[in-house]
Amino acid sequence: MKQPVDAIIHNIGQLVTLEGPPIPRRGVAMQALGIIEDAAVAMRGERIAAAGPEQDIVAAFEAPASETFDAERGVVLPGFVDPHTHVLFAGSRWHEFELRCQGRSYQEIAAAGGGIRSSVRAFRAATDETLKIQTRRRLDRMLGLGTTTVEAKSGYGLDTEQELRALRLIEELDKEHPVDLVPTFLGAHEFPDEYRSDRDGYVRLITEEMLPRVVAETKARFCDVFCEEGVFTAEQSRAILQTAHRLGLGLKLHADEFAPVGGSELAAELGAISADHLLEATEHGLLALQRGGVTAVLLPVTSFSLGKGRYAAARTMIQMEIPVALATDCNPGSSMTESVPLVLSMACLELGLSPAEALTAATVNAAHAIGLAGDRGRVAPGLRADLQVLDAPSYVSLAYHLGVSHVRWVFKNGRPVH
Ligand code: NIG
Ligand code: FE
Repeated sequence: MKQPVDAIIHNIGQLVTLEGPPIPRRGVAMQALGIIEDAAVAMRGERIAAAGPEQDIVAAFEAPASETFDAERGVVLPGFVDPHTHVLFAGSRWHEFELRCQGRSYQEIAAAGGGIRSSVRAFRAATDETLKIQTRRRLDRMLGLGTTTVEAKSGYGLDTEQELRALRLIEELDKEHPVDLVPTFLGAHEFPDEYRSDRDGYVRLITEEMLPRVVAETKARFCDVFCEEGVFTAEQSRAILQTAHRLGLGLKLHADEFAPVGGSELAAELGAISADHLLEATEHGLLALQRGGVTAVLLPVTSFSLGKGRYAAARTMIQMEIPVALATDCNPGSSMTESVPLVLSMACLELGLSPAEALTAATVNAAHAIGLAGDRGRVAPGLRADLQVLDAPSYVSLAYHLGVSHVRWVFKNGRPVH
């Protein structure tokens, strides 16, 4: 007697399971994808019931004919987890792109009142409905490129009510859209115009007013800070993150992107789950990440878009057994993309990752960077049935065949949604 299941994907040429424990992969372990050839996956409800060689699965399980999907020898892998985005924003900064193409730098544009602060003005002026319509389109594009879970930061509100609004909208979009959104509070993204000359006053507003309300009134799981020259100092970042930790939030940091002001060291000191960017991380900073077990979330499309001509020291990090994850950083200023496959291509061609390491970084390690490695980012019984079926002969195509989507179907919680 075959066991009934709700859906089966069969005739899979290459099933990428990333089998192993729910912990981040380090060093050479980033190469091990747990590939099964000639495979099938059975799903029950929102979860994976079984995955393995085609004959075993088809002999043991049966799904209704309408719920049996033929992968036509293509690749099946976990939906991507994108662990660092600013996907909730209003409008576009295409005019800044033109300036940057003429050689103006991101930081020059920011100092002249553009950059994050121009997105803050647009965010405050936009209605809830406009923000949701624009963000839904981005989430649709993400899903169409194989992403099923997205970390989403606030940080374009920069006052108490606007930051709470951002987190509420992220929560609503999470309910309404197949892509899962994991909310992060980033009230410390920039100093708003009102507090340019009272920076410590803004830090106090965050610790005394915003954070308690964020914890009481929203589902935010993490607190992040843009710890950077000209933005939040290491001291200010420490004050914010210590308060967030005391209130029960997980910690993340935008660290060492433009200048090494102690972000990596602070992430390790405070037990942050991730430190992100890290282009300018020093040897001292990397040793701190290594000792602290902090995951490095690398954002190569941001370096590329900013025309930096240099990238985070990914190979050194992997050699040091620092867990490495990848993300889009989707935002209107420094990385206007929804595409994890583009990130994979850049990771291979510019950071020197192998296609297998890059895939590990965008699945199991990315899930760990938002605290979800026990639930998704691999293919194994009991895990969430978030899967992508590719029209490609190998997972390597994701990085190698540039600039297109390889997705045939995306399954979210066991259902085909794209
Ligand atoms: O991660 N570095 C700070 N925040 C974003 C940029 C946001 C923006 O420019 O709107 C980043 O690159
Ligand atoms: Fe960012």
